[in-house]
Amino acid sequence: MSQLRWMPGDRRETMKAMIRVDQAGEYGATRIYAGQLAVLGDRHPASRAIHHMAEQEERHRAFFDRMIAERRVRPTLFQPFWDKAGFALGAITAAIGPKAAMACTAAVETEIDKHYQAQRDQLGDSDPELSDAIADFQAEELEHRDHALGAGAEEAIAYPVLYGAIRAGCKFAIAAAKRI
Ligand SMILES: [Fe+2]
Ligand SMILES: [Fe+2]
Repeated sequence: MSQLRWMPGDRRETMKAMIRVDQAGEYGATRIYAGQLAVLGDRHPASRAIHHMAEQEERHRAFFDRMIAERRVRPTLFQPFWDKAGFALGAITAAIGPKAAMACTAAVETEIDKHYQAQRDQLGDSDPELSDAIADFQAEELEHRDHALGAGAEEAIAYPVLYGAIRAGCKFAIAAAKRI
């Protein structure tokens, strides 16, 4: 809380925008995995790993939920959108097949890795609580990406199209959630 007092106004707004977009993104991630699990079911061989990733996304989201409250950040107005769009993205890719679900994860986590790296570069050592958490989560997002690639993401039907479209969607969503 003390950080809020000495931080210059523009930096404070930047920090708040970071927390807003990260909370929205981690919430979206939990919804993607929920959509995938809803289609694949608990007994599908891919589901154990997806469950594990989903639990990690819950931990990421919980941290940003706490930041939203502690640092008095206005949450995204897009929450209902992230809920439905995330779930739909997960459900549709899983319905195409488990490899398409993995292609979705590979695409999303590739964008999130870049996004978190850019935030860490911007933060430097100005806000260790935030940047340490982001570094921690970024490492897990890379594990998710690597798991997805190892599980045959690139063998999914129309992989380049799927991968490109989902990455573009993520970029758009990140840009939107910073503001709205
Ligand atoms: Fe995450
Ligand atoms: Fe992730």
